[in-house]
Amino acid sequence: MNPNIASVLVDEAEIDRITTRIAAEIDRDYQNTGRKLLLLCILKGSVVFMGDLMKKITLPVEIDFMKVSSYGSGTVSGGQVNILLDLHRKDLPDVDIIIVEDIIDSGRTLSYLMEYLRLKGAHSVRTCTMLDKPERRDEKLRDFRPDYVGAVIPDEFVVGYGLDYDEQYRALPYVGILRPEVYGG
Ligand code: IMP
Ligand code: MG
Repeated sequence: MNPNIASVLVDEAEIDRITTRIAAEIDRDYQNTGRKLLLLCILKGSVVFMGDLMKKITLPVEIDFMKVSSYGSGTVSGGQVNILLDLHRKDLPDVDIIIVEDIIDSGRTLSYLMEYLRLKGAHSVRTCTMLDKPERRDEKLRDFRPDYVGAVIPDEFVVGYGLDYDEQYRALPYVGILRPEVYGG
């Protein structure tokens, strides 16, 4: 195991069960809609989860990517959401979007994106997150619940399975708690 990881929170077997379960939920919820289903990956943290999930969905899906900034660097959320890479397509009224996120912390990124994509005219927008830290939710977003959740986790800074600390640890195949000494916590 990586020496900077204090403990593993979600191991590879658990990740496999989670992606299988969520793919089955999506297959069930989007049968015979007559519309396009778009998995919208939020870069960069969600790429690993997205790759696993999309392989297990049996319905036809399209994929796309957006990039937003929320964390500048380190472990403290920035507060404001900036769109760095946007979604450009003209057929959104005919598209059901599932936003695929790595983790929900304050909830600001996902709630902002949901509103943004609805205003852009998507037929529907749902949210899917690998990890949820509900204890960290912004006061104004306390009732915000993602539609698909992999695992609810305690208020710890985690890395791996796409998640980074200053761009490191994304390639670890599990989700682990980073030793606080590493970020001076
Ligand atoms: P939110 O807008 O506060 O919900 O922030 C969500 C984003 O913050 C995620 O997409 C991650 O990039 C980042 N983030 C939140 N918690 C963690 C963590 O424990 N490890 C790594 N990144 C995190
Ligand atoms: Mg990040």
